[in-house]
Amino acid sequence: MYLLVNKQCRTFSPTLRLDRQVQQPNGQYSYLNKIGELRMIKVVIHSQDRTLRLLLSSALGKEFQVVWEPSEEGTKRSLSTGSCDLVILDLDANKETLHQQTECARRIISSIDSSLTIVMADDSLRSAAAELVRLGAFGYCRRPPSIRDLKEMLRRAYEHSSLKRELKTAQERIDSANSCDRMIGSSPRMLEVYDLVRRVTSINASVLITGESGTGKELIASAIHNLGDRSGHPFIAVSCGAIPETLIEAELFGHEKGAFTGTFGARTGLLEQAGGGTVFLDEIGELSLSTQVKLLRVIQEREFSRLGSNRLIPLNARLIFATHQDLTEMVAQGKFRQDLYYRINVMRIEAPALQDHREDLPQIANHFLRKYSALYRKPIESFEPDAMAMLECYSWPGNVRELENVIQRAIILTGTPRIRVADLPPQIHEEDAVSVYDYQPTGSFETQLRDYKLKLATSAVREQAGNKTMAARSLGISRAYLHRLIRRTGPELVEEPGRQKLEIA
Ligand SMILES: Nc1ncnc2c1ncn2[C@@H]1O[C@H](COP(=O)(O)OP(=O)(O)O)[C@@H](O)[C@H]1O
Ligand SMILES: [Mg+2]
Repeated sequence: MYLLVNKQCRTFSPTLRLDRQVQQPNGQYSYLNKIGELRMIKVVIHSQDRTLRLLLSSALGKEFQVVWEPSEEGTKRSLSTGSCDLVILDLDANKETLHQQTECARRIISSIDSSLTIVMADDSLRSAAAELVRLGAFGYCRRPPSIRDLKEMLRRAYEHSSLKRELKTAQERIDSANSCDRMIGSSPRMLEVYDLVRRVTSINASVLITGESGTGKELIASAIHNLGDRSGHPFIAVSCGAIPETLIEAELFGHEKGAFTGTFGARTGLLEQAGGGTVFLDEIGELSLSTQVKLLRVIQEREFSRLGSNRLIPLNARLIFATHQDLTEMVAQGKFRQDLYYRINVMRIEAPALQDHREDLPQIANHFLRKYSALYRKPIESFEPDAMAMLECYSWPGNVRELENVIQRAIILTGTPRIRVADLPPQIHEEDAVSVYDYQPTGSFETQLRDYKLKLATSAVREQAGNKTMAARSLGISRAYLHRLIRRTGPELVEEPGRQKLEIA
């Protein structure tokens, strides 16, 4: 009989299920995977010393399966393909090759999940080994190792990695509960968007999506399509501003052979190509007044004809509209037809600017971190706290699109397992560098007060290198209040309850 000792569950959280460690009657340990099969921990030894492998293979016993891998590429591959669980990086005392060895170890550590590596080094190389641990290696053991200590370290590293995997799955479950189709965020503003999206999926009413550029208007339109019963049909996005005025009607409605100069054959338009799907007309404010008249007729009659033909074709597709412009203002200026505006503005969904749902930023940022680290095959795990603080403090004029670009760029640039302040682009550093004393707020009294508080809070976070507890302490406010100020959520304009007023001279 095996004795179950689920150590991690006791240490961390009783709700997390890890690979279970079992102690066999002979005192050896094994692991049960989730379906209860016994498994050995697979360890790659990256070393030039063949005898070390022979020594460790027999000394580590049946609990571990040991593979020797002298090449850098082979070592990286064995972890990235999942064919092994842990890597031992061996630094021998050969002074001539020491630099080469540490550089190689450094490259391995920064290209894989660093916490799966253990450095083994001679006592004389202790500082080189410590440097590798600072870079993210799980631990360091002396060479030649005490087998008992090495086994213990390997077990702990393995349990740590199982825990991380579990946390990642749990995080993904939470993320998917707080999302709608591909939209991420669980702030009240995003929940409002999800609610509206779900309400309009099953009805055919016109939907107008408004909001600044980069706020996810197209994502909202595709969610309406994907969650409804049109999802098996095409979703076609048309950017009205990107197609020349002379071509937009031909693009939408199609044309017959010789309908206008330069056309050779007949062509079906996008409204026809979409069939029973959805046509998303983005930047609707860019349409000319004459095209607006034709579009209005199509929406009212639910039929259209190709250019150069009188044959009426029924409109089966659903139309969704979006704009970053203020259409009421355009109507007032005579640039947008009022009747068309009333027709498309039956249901309105406002995509919030990132400034207005800052509390979602860490979740959205982590989503892009996972997406791009997988795409570029770089095992980047997280953000350094001061880098995340810098992202949280920035004003994001380009909204989620800008955030996505910033993270994509950081992942391409970084050589470490965590995104650092140095990996963030100049615009974020520059805004961050504006001192609170040089800051000149504008707007109403309330807006100025709010902006000044935000600036005070973000400066304090920056001065404390991202440590929000210290920042809150330095301002004499609670951590929760500091959070509300930075993320601009909750009753931030009201003074912190039960605390001394934040004096602004
Ligand atoms: N809430 C969100 N969650 C995840 N990704 C988002 C979100 N909002 C926007 N994005 C991403 O940001 C980028 C810009 O979104 P998009 O829908 O094209 O914006 P818009 O049409 O408003 O300019 C896209 O890559 C989109 O996937
Ligand atoms: Mg768009």
